[in-house]
Amino acid sequence: MTILVTGAAGFIGSNFVLDWVNQSSEEVVSLDLLTYAGNLENLSSLEGNAKHHFIKGNISDRDLVSKLLKKYQLRAIVNFAAESHVDRSIHSPGDFIETNIVGTYNLLESVRSYWNGLDENHKKHFKFLHVSTDEVYGSLSKTDPAFRETNPFEPNSPYSASKAASDHLVRAWYHTYGLPVLTTNCSNNYGPYHFPEKLIPLCILNALNGKPLPIYGDGQQIRDWLYVKDHCSAIRRVLDKGKLGETYNVGGWNEKANLDVVKTLCAILDELKPKVDGTKYESQITYVKDRPGHDRRYAIDATKLEKELQWRPQETFDTGIRKTVEWYLANETWVSHVVSGDYKNWVQKQYT
Ligand code: NAD
Ligand code: TYD
Repeated sequence: MTILVTGAAGFIGSNFVLDWVNQSSEEVVSLDLLTYAGNLENLSSLEGNAKHHFIKGNISDRDLVSKLLKKYQLRAIVNFAAESHVDRSIHSPGDFIETNIVGTYNLLESVRSYWNGLDENHKKHFKFLHVSTDEVYGSLSKTDPAFRETNPFEPNSPYSASKAASDHLVRAWYHTYGLPVLTTNCSNNYGPYHFPEKLIPLCILNALNGKPLPIYGDGQQIRDWLYVKDHCSAIRRVLDKGKLGETYNVGGWNEKANLDVVKTLCAILDELKPKVDGTKYESQITYVKDRPGHDRRYAIDATKLEKELQWRPQETFDTGIRKTVEWYLANETWVSHVVSGDYKNWVQKQYT
């Protein structure tokens, strides 16, 4: 049996594929357009591995996706492919509409046509898992209860609006066409292979390079952090045991204010790689202009996933964040290759 993973060269997709190949006897076909966020180096340890096939391509390319579905007789799809950065969605919303909405629509249609042609046995076992975000639920006040699967969608950024639209399409393809779908809505991830334009990797690398650690606004916005490997294990569990047509919130009960996250990173770096001039990394913290429409707080209630599918995260924020800093310190080559690419142009556009 073989599964298709879209967006497999991105941050979470590549972690998912690496774990899958390690833990399962099933083959994986990785499909990725290799946008600025796709980095094949993330999957370099799988070179020559007969269980892994990489294909460069677009989820919107119906011919290609249909051919892959048939050629590999795929039994499941995990859809990570997306434009994923809120700040980029503010500068260029069109890319988000194209990939997250139109791309998901095209993918659903390719899959529907393949699934309709399967024999009853294969049809019964086929699954399409759509990976989404807690940002579709909008923003919470300090005292609101955490997001449950029943919360209404109230997206505030072009990114979250495009993901909410894709979630709606997936839901509609289940109710209208009977396509066997599952959806996960996860909180903020962190860990290895995280592209360094997102808060945690950006601050680790800026700290090490003596650059400012940019805090948007007052730094009191709250995110609910989950170590990426825990997100991957939750997706495997939902794919295996989830009830078709259902959505599952994924989170680690780790709400932190941005400023506290950055201070924690600084403290770990002070310990693991003290600055030669004897000053603390915290002294590099700089307050910058806030993000327009910046959501104040996200928090995930993962009770459904824990109770119905017996999933629990392995890492606390303290253990996961330390592993993450250690990974960035140990993977200088990966970092230098990413930093020498398009990432540099992006940083210039965003912060100058
Ligand atoms: P990412 O930006 O690191 O990776 C996205 C990948 O998709 C890249 O490799 C890119 O090349 C590929 N891609 C983009 N457009 C494509 C297209 N049209 N066809 C094929 N491939 C395409 O993103 P990520 O952080 O790994 O997020 C993966 C998924 O998880 C996204 O759907 C995102 O919404 C969701 N998610 C992310 C987080 C998070 O904290 N990063 C949290 C919850 C959910
Ligand atoms: P980010 O990693 O972009 O994820 P998301 O916007 O999907 O939550 O940002 C996490 C939080 O950190 C968010 O509240 C914005 C904030 N942030 C900063 O304060 N400074 C930065 O340079 C970046 C990239 C993010």
